[in-house]
Amino acid sequence: MITIKPEVREMTAVDVDQVYAIETSAHANPWSRLTFQREIVNKRHNMCLVAELGESIVGFMCMYHVLDEGHVTNIAVAAPYQNKGIATHLMLEAVERVIKRGIKRLTLEVRKSNTKAQHLYIKFGFKMSGLRKAYYTDNREDALVFWTGDISDENYQQLFREIRQNLDDRE
Ligand SMILES: CC(C)(COP(=O)(O)OP(=O)(O)OC[C@H]1O[C@@H](n2cnc3c(N)ncnc32)[C@H](O)[C@@H]1OP(=O)(O)O)[C@@H](O)C(=O)NCCC(=O)NCCS
Repeated sequence: MITIKPEVREMTAVDVDQVYAIETSAHANPWSRLTFQREIVNKRHNMCLVAELGESIVGFMCMYHVLDEGHVTNIAVAAPYQNKGIATHLMLEAVERVIKRGIKRLTLEVRKSNTKAQHLYIKFGFKMSGLRKAYYTDNREDALVFWTGDISDENYQQLFREIRQNLDDRE
């Protein structure tokens, strides 16, 4: 797989139109523009990042965090740029930033059928730990609940370095 290295930075209000276009093409139950606008205002508990190539936003992710837990609430990459390491770059940057904020464990929900996203999360040390029945309102699909272990410990840091190295080797 050939990978691309985007610039990863915090999402701002001017990014919302491009982000929203990716969101509506990627998710059956998309967030509204207003949701993104709210997420980027509440910086104390939220973090949204974009991956940018030149002037174009090609992917984004959002996290919510409280105390020492982080919740990945949204991640998507524009279809033409998928499978090129963009989500991996976003996750690497997000994990690095939240460790600095004292976050110890990450969680998220993912559709049972979304094996591609599950592979991404498993690569980042998430493990399936539960199931929420009929969680998704569009088709009543079940959500798998994933958690990491302590992302500040040496084992996780080793995994983190391996993911980064693997990506560097493919660029
Ligand atoms: C899930 C998604 C964000 C991944 O983004 P991406 O930029 O394509 O991901 P990457 O290129 O960084 O690949 C990450 C990992 O996903 C896995 N992966 C990639 N393509 C895959 C495929 N076709 N089948 C299975 N796993 C795949 C691999 O584990 C890959 O890591 P590796 O190449 O080191 O093994 C993207 O597919 C997407 O936007 N999907 C629609 C929205 C969505 O489902 N979001 C998640 C909601 S929970």
